[in-house]
Order: sequence, then C-alpha cells, then structure tokens
Amino acid sequence: MARRTKIYEGKAKVLYEGPEPGTLVQYFKDDATAFNAEKRDVIEGKGVLNNFLSELFMNGLNGIGVPTHFIRRLNMREQLIRAVDIIPLEVVVRNVAAGSLSKRLGIEEGTPLPRPIIEFYYKDDALGDPLVTEDQILAFNWASHQDLDDMVALAVRVNDFLSGVMLAVGIKLVDFKIEIGRQFEGDMQRLIVADEISPDSCRLWDIKTGQKLDKDVFRRDLGSLTDAYSEVARRLGVMPKSPVPIKPKLMN
Ligand code: TMP
Repeated sequence: MARRTKIYEGKAKVLYEGPEPGTLVQYFKDDATAFNAEKRDVIEGKGVLNNFLSELFMNGLNGIGVPTHFIRRLNMREQLIRAVDIIPLEVVVRNVAAGSLSKRLGIEEGTPLPRPIIEFYYKDDALGDPLVTEDQILAFNWASHQDLDDMVALAVRVNDFLSGVMLAVGIKLVDFKIEIGRQFEGDMQRLIVADEISPDSCRLWDIKTGQKLDKDVFRRDLGSLTDAYSEVARRLGVMPKSPVPIKPKLMN
C-alpha cells in the first residue's frame, strides 16, 4: 500500500488523507502537552484510550442527532472522520469553576456555577489561544452570528449528553472544550462537532472522592495519566481489548 499523505500534524493527533473524498484518517498519538506545549511528555497508551473514548462520545452524539465528524474507528489508534474546515475557535463549556476561570476571576475551584458558562478562545498557539468576545469573533470574521448561534446550540447539547454519560458512572463533568467544523454539501454548509472529545479536553472529577481523572493529572503532576484515563474507560465499558501500552506502528 502506498504511504498515506499526511494532511496535518498537531500536538496530539495526525490527520491523513482518507480513502474517499471528504474523509480523513485521524491518528491519536501518545504525546501529551500542556501550557501551550511548554510541558511535554509521551504517555504510552494515551492515544489508544483517547481513540476509544472519543469514539464512544462521538458515536453517542451522532445517535442523539448531534452531528459530528466521526464515521468509524479503524483500529487501535485511528478513526475515519469527515473532512471539515475547522472554525478557529475553541468552545469551552463550564459547569463548575476550575482552571483558567478560577484563576482569572478568583473563584475557588469546585464552586458550582449558577448555569453553564460558554467561552470562546481564538485558536492561535503563538498567542496562547486567548479568550475572545463574540464582538471580536464577528468583527474579525472568524464566525458569523448564525455560526455563533449554532455553536452555542451544539455546545449545550454536548454538555447535556456528556454530563449525563459521566454522571451515570460517578464522574462530574466540570468543563470541556470542543472544536467545531464546517461541512460542505453542495452550496449548503452545516456545523458539526470535530477534533476529539476525551479526557485530554475535559475536566472529570470522581463524584465521591473528587479525584481528577483528566489531563490535569499531567498538567499538575498528580500521578499516572494512563491510570486516570484507563479508569474513565473502564467505568464506561470501553477498555481496549489489548491493554496499553501499545507502541505506535510505522505507517505504511
Ligand atoms: P481552562 O480552564 O484551562 O481554560 O480549560 C478549560 C477546558 O478546556 C478544560 O476542560 C481543558 C480544556 N482545554 C483544552 O482542551 N485545550 C487547551 O488548550 C486548554 C487550555 C484547555
């Protein structure tokens, strides 16, 4: 088989040309980064866990009519996805104060928020993904009014779904980040959930103990990231058959 064409390589994933027009193959790496890649490590098996967990969440969303880029998982580290134009905004939904919200506003971590708060961050590593206002988004044409309405609607539905899934296994969904892409069908475009949904992009706390089961374990040096992600996968019933560690295979 001919070597596949690499379309894009990010910090945690690689995108390859897909088998059909309009598709891509998304490969999950073991690389972990934090603080705009100032802190980095390779956590053996993380990519496998995130591939399976993102499959579970995206499949669940597709099943309740929330459109996502996910088509199907191909193997331990790869999934087939729809190609989209990623909107250059990270959409964060918060249910409980934590992380940058706590820091910026001086609200103690763990304080429940009166209602979910949605924030937009401009995707630009050189700028450190700054928080931006809706007026800035409109003025700089990163998204239209209609896009913003659609993005908020998607974010709220993802929050409702994910909160419920997590609650059922004793985990509190503190906050999460999604990315959204434009899918074109002829002259029509629609916005769909893209990228990944995994413990890399969520804050997940055990309801009873408050134990962190997400990337804060890595960001704050709280123990084994693989153990934390494996616990999430185990509770959700998606432990990959051949457990971690799995060495990345040479692509051919
Ligand atoms: P924050 O509190 O650091 O702003 O993070 C909010 C949520 O967004 C949290 O669940 C982690 C996630 N996140 C990412 O997925 N990527 C990032 O680059 C950052 C900064 C946060």
